[in-house]
Amino acid sequence: MRRRTAILISGRGSNMAALLSAARDPAYPAEIVLVLSNRPDAAGLATAAAAGIPAAAIDHRPFKGDRGAHEAAINAALAEARVELVCLAGYLRLLTPVLVNAWAGRMLNIHPSLLPAFPGLHTHTRALEAGVKLHGCTVHLVTQGMDEGPILAQAAVPILPGDTEDALAARVLVQEHRLYPAVLAMLASGMPARFAAANDALANPLPFAETVP
Ligand code: GRF
Repeated sequence: MRRRTAILISGRGSNMAALLSAARDPAYPAEIVLVLSNRPDAAGLATAAAAGIPAAAIDHRPFKGDRGAHEAAINAALAEARVELVCLAGYLRLLTPVLVNAWAGRMLNIHPSLLPAFPGLHTHTRALEAGVKLHGCTVHLVTQGMDEGPILAQAAVPILPGDTEDALAARVLVQEHRLYPAVLAMLASGMPARFAAANDALANPLPFAETVP
């Protein structure tokens, strides 16, 4: 059975497109059933619609001052679509417990650094400024702390002499597009035992974790 999965975006949606592409294979263990954006002008909405995936904006602006109400509207849309897993893919909102608690253990995020280094924004510039020699991306479970949830997988790239922010971002993005579909497949097909402890520590563990040997 394929896990019904939603993707939340705010912008261009290249990671979303990578997930959609992987999920076109009927053998892929997740099915993308919904794409939501908090921004009506997100380019990724058109990409999703062109791929035949239900895509909608739930604009955060009318909810100004009440993040929880905006997230409750998102939760309602996820419930309506009978979503089981959620992937944040360039979703540029800080989350409240309304979403985090509802999806604990079942919500992934991709972050463009080797966490716990460089949480937050402008990761490529900060990596260049710090002089690190390795950079990359991380897929993690979402918890209340920003970019702090249990790390599920990472991909590293070298920082090369003369790198610019754009060159480095492009090198990392290639890895993001490989890593995210692989980790979603892992989560959707049952959580490997070595992640079970992290999952157990969460309030709302995966209901299908027990299917893993
Ligand atoms: C990616 O770098 C992702 O890691 C970060 O935001 C960016 C989104 O890019 N969270 P895209 O919208 O997936 O192209």
